[in-house]
Amino acid sequence: MQIGILCSGGDSPGMNACLRAIVRTAVSQGHEVVGFMDGYQGILNEDFYIGSAGAHRFFMRTVSGIVKRGGTLLHSSRCPEFATPEGTQKAADILDKLGVDALIPIGGNGTLTGAHELGKVWKGQIIGCPGTIDNDLNGTDFTIGFKTSVQTAVDAVDKLRDTAASHHRMFLVELMGRHCGYITLHTAIAAGCEVACIPEHPQKIEDIVEKLQDLYRRGKTSIIMVVAEGYHDGVMALQEKLEKAGCPFPMRSVVLGHLLRGGDPCPEDRILAAQTGNLAVEGILRGETDKMAGVRNNQAVLVPLEEAITGHRVVPQDLVDLLECVSR
Ligand code: F6P
Repeated sequence: MQIGILCSGGDSPGMNACLRAIVRTAVSQGHEVVGFMDGYQGILNEDFYIGSAGAHRFFMRTVSGIVKRGGTLLHSSRCPEFATPEGTQKAADILDKLGVDALIPIGGNGTLTGAHELGKVWKGQIIGCPGTIDNDLNGTDFTIGFKTSVQTAVDAVDKLRDTAASHHRMFLVELMGRHCGYITLHTAIAAGCEVACIPEHPQKIEDIVEKLQDLYRRGKTSIIMVVAEGYHDGVMALQEKLEKAGCPFPMRSVVLGHLLRGGDPCPEDRILAAQTGNLAVEGILRGETDKMAGVRNNQAVLVPLEEAITGHRVVPQDLVDLLECVSR
């Protein structure tokens, strides 16, 4: 059997570890694995990963040493052409022409939505792996890269706290996460932030200022407010609005942005990557398709792609309440 792999959308720490698990699981059972460069664009361009020996396919040793590396060996992109019905059909035709039997796309919501659409027009099997820092997919407790990105955010916030405390300041720290507050909320709890602004719980400017005034009255001298990207048009705009509405702390804003996507994956992301990559191959060998490999309650599971991509995953209310309780 010939299995194709690609990474698409925003890169996330652990994609390489996933790739390694896929290659090792498939090649050790006598199957051939090929990699497409730059996500779905690589299928349309028939652009294969070429290893150091000049070979188009992966060998066991091609993936040596990559378990600890951030980014992705296969590079990534968002591919507008593939997202059109014509582009999806073209990809299906090319996969047939190349003799690819199954595809394992690693990526987030956009990637797996594309995979589900491809499955409607292509006869090959498709099992995706959840590679995104956003943790916004249903059917898996965590996505590959999420925990590393939270670690990066917590490291940065810990440093900002030193300056915030020294200068009696408030820092607004903008974090990625697309439409999902997971990274922001987890960072807030882990780094002891006073306020988290997440899309799931929109707050009025006056209410945020009231909370800040209350914290000021109760003797807080430094504040860290983590803000999910896009919230109130970003931290710069939010800072201005808070200033006008009477925020009692002098403020500075920091956008962490793409910093959260880089770096070596933490052990938990590497393990999740190994579990999902392994299950994706085993699932394909069992004849499964149109699925995502995830991990729920420490158990590797296959969930329908449709379930994984449908609706916005919402942060649990008990974590929101927990932050409220411990940040007073
Ligand atoms: O989905 C991953 C992500 O990093 C989101 O958190 C963010 O909204 C988006 O990608 C940024 O995309 P780009 O790298 O194209 O700017």
